[in-house]
Amino acid sequence: MSHYFENDQNLKSELRELSYKYNSSFFKFNSDNGVFSKNKIDYGSKLLLETYLNEANVNVRVLDVGCGYGLIGIVIGVVTDSYVDMVDVNRRAVHLANMNIKKYKEFKGQAFISDAYENVNGLYDVIITNPPIRVGKNKVLEILEGAFDHLNDNGSLYFVIRKDQGALSIKKILESTKVVDTINRDKGYFIFRAKKK
Ligand SMILES: C[S@@+](CC[C@H](N)C(=O)[O-])C[C@H]1O[C@@H](n2cnc3c(N)ncnc32)[C@H](O)[C@@H]1O
Repeated sequence: MSHYFENDQNLKSELRELSYKYNSSFFKFNSDNGVFSKNKIDYGSKLLLETYLNEANVNVRVLDVGCGYGLIGIVIGVVTDSYVDMVDVNRRAVHLANMNIKKYKEFKGQAFISDAYENVNGLYDVIITNPPIRVGKNKVLEILEGAFDHLNDNGSLYFVIRKDQGALSIKKILESTKVVDTINRDKGYFIFRAKKK
């Protein structure tokens, strides 16, 4: 059984298109077998994205970790006129994200392969992630805690976790070294914003 976070070059490609609307902006994304939430935009991703957009950080440098086909990073880039890099360990996800980037001429940034921050250089104002819970808590904490090595001093980490996937225990772990605010919650999903203390 193949999970969305594995690289499986033998998995048949069956491209499909997902639609998304934010205010008056319409988006279309190519999706495929072997990527997270391939048939339908994930509710947690949508809640994270729209909560972030409500805070209206415009023209900043953003990193989307575990970008999948590119929903979060591409919408942020287009709507907030920000520079956005996107990383994922899944080759097919990065391929799709780059395919989707090309649809938006105004988008500034790139998608590239990286296991967490392995191939990430430079500093960002914002790191945003719907983390790969199924890979395990250690990798999730590597992504969340590691974000602060790639954020400016005033930078913020935004992330979503479901209550039944350990949202509150992960918040507590991060709170030992960071300020973590719950900025939205709905249908069991918690949206957190973390900053350096
Ligand atoms: C919950 S999905 C979110 C995908 C996408 N951001 C979305 O909202 O649709 C988590 C993503 O993390 C990726 N991932 C898993 N392990 C990773 C790792 N070690 N480093 C970077 N990304 C990873 C998965 O391939 C998957 O695309």
